Amino acid sequence: MVETIQWIDNAVVMIDQTKLPLEETYVTCRTYEEVARAIRDMIIRGAPAIGVAAAMGVALGVLHAGERDLDRQVETICATLAATRPTAVNLFWAIGRMKRLYASLHGAAPAEIRRRMVEEALRVREEDIAICRAIGRNGAALVPDHKTVLTHCNAGALATAGYGTALGVIRAAIESGKTVDVFADETRPFLQGARLTVWELQQDHIPTTLITDNMAGHFLKSGRIGCVVVGADRIAANGDVANKVGTYSVAVLAKENNVPFFVAAPISTLDLTLASGDAIPIEQRAAVEVTHVQGRQMAPTGTAVQNPAFDVTPARYVSGIITERGVARAPYEESLRKLVG
Ligand code: MRU
Repeated sequence: MVETIQWIDNAVVMIDQTKLPLEETYVTCRTYEEVARAIRDMIIRGAPAIGVAAAMGVALGVLHAGERDLDRQVETICATLAATRPTAVNLFWAIGRMKRLYASLHGAAPAEIRRRMVEEALRVREEDIAICRAIGRNGAALVPDHKTVLTHCNAGALATAGYGTALGVIRAAIESGKTVDVFADETRPFLQGARLTVWELQQDHIPTTLITDNMAGHFLKSGRIGCVVVGADRIAANGDVANKVGTYSVAVLAKENNVPFFVAAPISTLDLTLASGDAIPIEQRAAVEVTHVQGRQMAPTGTAVQNPAFDVTPARYVSGIITERGVARAPYEESLRKLVG
């Protein structure tokens, strides 16, 4: 399995997702500022992986912080990491978890604080892999045998500490003996589907076909797609799902064609403080991601551009939300609260 993010010799090592699939190279972050930059520049991306990176970033910051005025330094470290990307709630969840541990260590010796913070970040990573495996187990039964699964963006090992959420469900279905192949939307503009999903599924020898985003309707109508499985960046209390832009269109097309549309995500992606998806902050990214493909200009100079990185799929299009604690079904206000406990 691909190593998305590791802690090696007091540094954070990530596979560079901006270089895949043409180059398999690794970036070493030795400071929390470098981790923040890696998240912002999408060297690492995907909600759970961003959470793991943030936890490791906080640990790295504490490790290198001076002993004087540590509280203020921790505030700065956390604020810097929190300012990287606004939509994936796992970022804020992980920073919150690290902050709470730090607060609980009040009065402890600096060496003890450093040790416990690093341990916690490593635990976030280990737990993420176990959570993805549980999501896979809970979702495998929902995947129809001898059918194609359509997915959007990359919600795989590369978007987590390993195994993946949506791709974890596909992996688990195959491990349970089902014959499944995958259609991957290319996912304009950043091409996570073409560059990352196809690459990681090829590593596992899972048969995968690349389609452009605007082909999804054609194939959903064909009867070939047994279900859609995608990940999520933030899920509101009513079951509205923020995920990579384009997910909403796929969900509407799936419903129109009676194809089940599943969302696979850890409990840490739920944001029950938000009543609906309308309150989810949507990241706006640089125009150059739309006007250029891999550095090559495609649109006339001066073109007006919109580049929302995510959209919100209303809960009525979601057939089920697959988590490590089970599958939530509508009405989501009730089922999600029950899962959180
Ligand atoms: O902008 P990205 O690549 O970070 O967006 C990623 C997605 O939208 C994923 O589908 C989502 O984070 C789920 S990852 C398990």
